[in-house]
Amino acid sequence: MSERSIVIFDTTLRDGEQSPGASMNIQEKVEVAQMLSSLGVDVIEAGFPVVSPGDFESVQRIARTVKGTSVCALARCKPQDIQSAWEAIREAENPRIHVFLATSEIHRRFKLRMTQEEILMHTEGYVRMASQLCPNVEFSAEDASRTEMDFLCKVVEMAIRAGAKTINIPDTVGYAVPDQFAEIIRELKRSVPNIEEAVLSVHCHNDLGLAMANTLAAIEAGAGQVECTINGIGERAGNCALEEIVMALNTRRDYYHAMTRIITERLVPASCLVAGITGLEVPRNKAIVGRNAFAHESGIHQDGMLKNPTTYEIMRPEHVGFVKTNLVLGKHSGRAALSSKVAALGYSLDENQMNTLFEAFKALTDRKKEIYDADIRSLIQQVLLTAETVRWTLESYECRSGSHQKPFVSMKLRHGDSVLETSGDSSGDGPIDGIFIAIGHLTGHDLKCREYRVHSVSVGHDAQGEVNVAVDYQGVEYRGRGVSTDCVEASILAFLDAVNRIQEGN
Ligand code: KIV
Ligand code: ZN
Repeated sequence: MSERSIVIFDTTLRDGEQSPGASMNIQEKVEVAQMLSSLGVDVIEAGFPVVSPGDFESVQRIARTVKGTSVCALARCKPQDIQSAWEAIREAENPRIHVFLATSEIHRRFKLRMTQEEILMHTEGYVRMASQLCPNVEFSAEDASRTEMDFLCKVVEMAIRAGAKTINIPDTVGYAVPDQFAEIIRELKRSVPNIEEAVLSVHCHNDLGLAMANTLAAIEAGAGQVECTINGIGERAGNCALEEIVMALNTRRDYYHAMTRIITERLVPASCLVAGITGLEVPRNKAIVGRNAFAHESGIHQDGMLKNPTTYEIMRPEHVGFVKTNLVLGKHSGRAALSSKVAALGYSLDENQMNTLFEAFKALTDRKKEIYDADIRSLIQQVLLTAETVRWTLESYECRSGSHQKPFVSMKLRHGDSVLETSGDSSGDGPIDGIFIAIGHLTGHDLKCREYRVHSVSVGHDAQGEVNVAVDYQGVEYRGRGVSTDCVEASILAFLDAVNRIQEGN
């Protein structure tokens, strides 16, 4: 049986970024896009340019700098959206405009207040408009899975006639079940006369935990493109997870006879990067990339594994990017050892980034004897993210606390050329509350702390602590992350990271 090639359309930067609190700044989005390209993703949906100047700029920057993949921008059926999407991506190697319009009765009646005829007219007009600007146009029938089948067929036929090269069938609200969803794909293939002129795509949400099952069912029924996100992040319960769909096709090649271009060894680094940037932690038991995905606890399983790993393992951990040896570098490790570790972890850094990393690595070896993979990953992520993002930085701090006494906090922050300082007994409940209040005071932001988490990124008494926070500022949630061998310092860095995102408007 001949093998099909499935197009991987990644929407981590668009639908993924719509996860509450998962917003990324421009530099972070560019890093994620670069990683997606080196992962082998065919199409990167970089954002929704008309939404804000920040979104426009990040899509444009990705279009200009990220090579080897198609860069796509989202647009509603509105002239301004389509124009803005085109302006943002026109310099990409292979630009794609993604136009969408809701088609279901519920959306037509309550959201759009449009008749079927009006939907057809809009589809034709705006897909044609996008096609005149860009040869590569995708059309999505939003809420397709709840649309009357005969009407969906008409819309799809119209979109293809107007120039769409990819037709996407979203299960927008995660309502579909696998057999029914597969039948939609089969029916489109049977009934739409020009269907062979376009690639059929699916975009499944996970509200019932069925995104992956629905996506696989659609592939079996003939879909040629799947839309997914790293770690399955996305609106509400998220989207189909890229790593899961790729490894399902890879591992069950015997059944699906379908392959992707994804370099599977880069899946774990990709997952870590997105988790680190968004602050949306990967659950330990998450398929493929969770910390426990390859951990065998039961004695019977361990015995089987020792005799032959295939007894209990359907994939090898190294094939998805888990590296075998964890304990690595130390004080005497040089640049070459660090570079080869960076490559083994799946990252590609330019010379400047490598220089910064080496300095940060050396500084860490003064504070910590054994440097683990998790430490290196965390250093890389800081190097990748610092460049243009940091506005408030920590100069120094002192914090004292104890039973039955108010915490004492002294903190110096830099903001551009000015250094601001506060010192004295704090009204906070403890040291973390104390530094949080001091940061609010110095930066002039009225912040509410919504989430505070600390965990160790490696092992040992000198392990680095990673702090993840979510703060509320004027009703919007901003996330921040900080890493240090000193947990109070990591907390300050995390709160400042969140404050810097407020400054950048994301
Ligand atoms: O879920 C959805 O319908 C979408 C479309 C814009 C493709 O995200
Ligand atoms: Zn979606």
